[in-house]
Parts: sequence; structure tokens; C-alpha cells
Amino acid sequence: MYKILTITFLLITLITIVAVFYVLKKLQKHIEQNEVQHIGGLGGISRLALGSFAILWIVGLFFGTGTTPIGLADKVNSMMSGQMSEQDIAAAKIIFDESCSACHGDYGEGNIGPNFTDEYFIHGTTKEEITKVITEGVVAKGMAAWGNLLSEEDVELMATYILTLPTTTPENPKPPQGEKYAFESGKWQHLPGEAITTNIITLPKDLAEIPLGGDVEKGKRLFNGVLGCAHCHGSSGHGHVDNRDVKGIQKRYGDDYLKMIDYVMLKGRKGTAMPPWDHLNEQKLSDLKTFMASIQQI
Ligand code: HEC
Ligand code: HEC
Repeated sequence: MYKILTITFLLITLITIVAVFYVLKKLQKHIEQNEVQHIGGLGGISRLALGSFAILWIVGLFFGTGTTPIGLADKVNSMMSGQMSEQDIAAAKIIFDESCSACHGDYGEGNIGPNFTDEYFIHGTTKEEITKVITEGVVAKGMAAWGNLLSEEDVELMATYILTLPTTTPENPKPPQGEKYAFESGKWQHLPGEAITTNIITLPKDLAEIPLGGDVEKGKRLFNGVLGCAHCHGSSGHGHVDNRDVKGIQKRYGDDYLKMIDYVMLKGRKGTAMPPWDHLNEQKLSDLKTFMASIQQI
């Protein structure tokens, strides 16, 4: 869009210059032919030329640059230019869709995990800092250590990709989290004192609710028995895989933790070993939810 507008602006400017040049040439010819007495009439032509020049210039400005000020997107684009080929972007998108979008949103707009398309960052803005978060994760907050699952090159690719996302403006962005930065003089500058520390979870609005009030004992038996939850989460819910202890859900998600249980039980968690359990009947789901709610350690 921006490119099209710039080209329009340049074209209008070019046409205007040619037109003015043409009128001036004509003017000169008239002066040569008709001497001084006709200058009054010709002054009209030059005024007309100047007037149309001004109008075209303003129109050009409006359509060319006026409606698209050079914003964050362009600044970050210029920062990233040349760093990612189209193939790199395509490869990064595949990994993002498979492993990251469940928590960071289809377009990086944020969900359980933070929004990548704003100017707020929790763990810093340099490629090194972002690579470190992806590699080591923030396991206690629900971000897995992807260093075990992705190659070093892919982690770096994802870090570069994530740094291009503030150029985008997806629908329904999650409210910002973390420290505020501004992209100035070619790099991200920290703006102290503007941090947003609350960890807001945006769950889908149409999410079904699993009723509480099930049977804790039955839930515990399901958890430790046939369903195999305990294989990954430990018989007391303390967590085997990715340290994902089911006792810490309330601590991790605060007031929304029961909704988070609904969400993860019904949808699973894409990109992790957690499958969806929406094939279970409502009674079993309720027993499991009630059991998990009963073991929360705050
Ligand atoms: C299960 C959910 C989940 C998945 C899947 C996930 N993340 Fe995260 N991610 C999070 C959470 C939660 C945080 C916030 C951690 C915190 O609060 O410190 C986070 C934080 C991050 C951050 C730091 C953001 C910042 O503001 O500093 C980066 C970078 C990141 N994730 C990249 C990725 C990438 C790349 C993938 C896919 C390979 C991925 N994440 C998959 C949940 C997830
Ligand atoms: C094959 C391993 C596996 C099995 C089986 C499994 N889970 Fe999970 N579960 C996981 C993983 C891995 C995660 C999340 C990891 C992450 O988000 O980083 C998870 C996440 C969860 C969460 C969200 C916790 C949170 O804090 O975000 C709940 C709730 C949960 N599982 C419940 C269950 C229940 C109930 C069962 C059995 C019906 C079950 N899981 C079976 C691996 C498993």
C-alpha cells in the first residue's frame, strides 16, 4: 500500500514538473513573439500554472505521504531489511503456526503468551535476549524451553522473525505486557517507568465452561489411571514433562485459572505434548477439573 502511494506521489510530481516546464517554455515563446504588451495575459497563464502546480503538489502530498506517516512499521522494516529472505519468512511462519501461535496468537497478537506486535517486551529487545528466552523458556510462566525442540538455527530464525512483528497490526491485539521501548536511531530504546506488569490472559470468548462441582475422588482416579494424565503430570500433579505441574495453574494464571483449565482441557495445547480431551463426556471433564482445582497451591 505504502509503495503504491509513494509511486503515485512521485508520478504526480513528475507530471507537474513536466507541465510547468511546458508552460514556461510556451511563456517564453509568447514573450519573444508578442513583446511586452501581452505580458498581462500571459501572467494569467503563469498564475494558472503555479496554481495547478500547488494543487497537484498538495494532492500528491496527501495521497503520497500525508496519509501514511513514516511509522514504527517502516522504521522496523528498515532495521530488518535484508535480514530475512522470503524463504526465511515462509520457514519461520511454518514453525510459528505449529509451535507458537497457540499461545502467541495466529498473527503474534498474543493470547496466553505476550503480544509480539507492540512496543512492549518482557525480556528485552535484542536478538540475543530473544534467542535466550526462546532457547531457555520461562517455564514457570508457561513458555517452554524451545532449545530442546528446535535447532539452534531455527531458534535464531524465530528470534529474527519475532523482531519483524512490531511492523504488523493484527486484529484483537492483546494488551501490552512488559517494559516499554521505542524504536529510535536504529534500535530499541528502553523507556523506563512505563512498564506494564500484569499478566493478562486473553481466552477465546466463546469458550465452553466445564462445570465445577464434580467428584474429586473420581477425578483423581481418572487423572492417575486410564487417561494417563499422571504419566506427564505426575500422580500428585507435580509435573514430569516440561515441569508442567498441574498444582501451579492458579499461581500461574491468577483469577482466570479455571477458564485456563477449560481452555487447555478442551483444546489441548498446540506445540506441546498436551492433547485435547474434548472427547471425554462432561461428567469426566467436570471430575477432572474439580480434582485439579482441589490441588492448587497458591
Ligand atoms: C504454552 C504457551 C506458549 C507457547 C506454545 C509459546 N510461548 Fe512464548 N511465551 C509464553 C508465555 C506465557 C510468555 C511470557 C513469559 C513471561 O511472562 O515471562 C512467553 C514469552 C515469549 C517471548 C518473550 C516475549 C517478551 O515480551 O519478552 C518470546 C520471544 C517467545 N515467547 C517466543 C516463543 C516462540 C518463538 C514460540 C514457538 C517456538 C513460543 N514462544 C511458544 C507462552 C508460550
Ligand atoms: C503426553 C503428556 C501429557 C498428558 C498425557 C497430559 N498432559 Fe496435560 N500437559 C502436558 C504438557 C506438556 C502441558 C503444557 C506444557 C506447556 O504449556 O508448556 C500440559 C498442560 C496441561 C494443563 C495446563 C497447565 C498450565 O498451567 O498451563 C492442564 C490443566 C493439563 N495439562 C491437564 C491434563 C489432564 C487433566 C490430563 C489427563 C486427562 C493431561 N493433562 C494429560 C502434557 C500432558
